[in-house]
Amino acid sequence: MSVPEIVRIGHVVLTVADLARARHFYVDLLGMNVLHEGSGGIYLRGVEDREWSLKLELGGSPRVRQFGFKVATDSTLDELERLAVDLGLPHRRETERDRPAMLRIQDPFGFPMTYYYQSVRHPWLLQRYDLHRGPGISRIDHVNLFCPTVADMGAWYQQRQGFRLTEYTEDKHGVTWAVWMHRKGNVHDLAITNGTGPRMHHFAYWLPDGNRIMQLCDILAGARAEAHIERGPGRHGISNAFYLYLRDPDGHRIELYTSDYLTVDPDFEPIRWDRDDIRRQQLWGGPAPKCWFTEGSMVESEDGGLVPTTESVLTGVPTYIS
Ligand SMILES: [Fe+2]
Repeated sequence: MSVPEIVRIGHVVLTVADLARARHFYVDLLGMNVLHEGSGGIYLRGVEDREWSLKLELGGSPRVRQFGFKVATDSTLDELERLAVDLGLPHRRETERDRPAMLRIQDPFGFPMTYYYQSVRHPWLLQRYDLHRGPGISRIDHVNLFCPTVADMGAWYQQRQGFRLTEYTEDKHGVTWAVWMHRKGNVHDLAITNGTGPRMHHFAYWLPDGNRIMQLCDILAGARAEAHIERGPGRHGISNAFYLYLRDPDGHRIELYTSDYLTVDPDFEPIRWDRDDIRRQQLWGGPAPKCWFTEGSMVESEDGGLVPTTESVLTGVPTYIS
């Protein structure tokens, strides 16, 4: 069976209740770069992104409208369309600003996945250091999704879309609680974690080093916006990433992420973590807050509503969470 060639995570589209408030957070505080803006929304990117990677739209209740993936060719969209037809998945062709040919599929687990190849490419800002603002956020890195059937969803994306497993968490009975999978060659483009879903746990941007993340903490504190900090900074055991998690004004969770590792070897061996090993989430030992395991963003259905969620049968939180 041939597998459609996914290249990398490409974008996230979020709805927000107040565009000006969201713009202040993402542009004024986080220093993201505006590519386009109007009454319909704001298109943002990091300094390494040649295309837009985050769109904020005015909408009712906050939700994720799309998780976008760049694919290898326009014909990859035809392959994905055949997959959707074969499996009876809701799907349609769409267009977006800068992106004339996109395919939206509601995946078997309820997530709104969008695929594109063509995109208008804009002048690179990486070496326009004079234009970098705030911590200098580089590029979109991954999304992390809550799903009540982690093992099934992980297997589906590995078998049907060629994602490669890098790390996973399981309990002492061998039941899978979370998986990290990549296409682009670092730890992940797509992570799936156990919980009520379909919902987004977080989306993440790469930065050059941990000092930039510390700088962002100072910027938020200086602006008396420290309440946006939910967790960190810290060092994950999983992925080895130096991290910081923020909640935006609409409650969407964004991670600032750096210092993971290469995973391109064809004989790469996925790393197993025990669910109750506190070092998997924080190498330095501090537990995550309980909201970490329970709160996330709803996702949009094919008719523009919210996808109803299902609780996981794997209930409870790791033993180190009180
Ligand atoms: Fe993450």
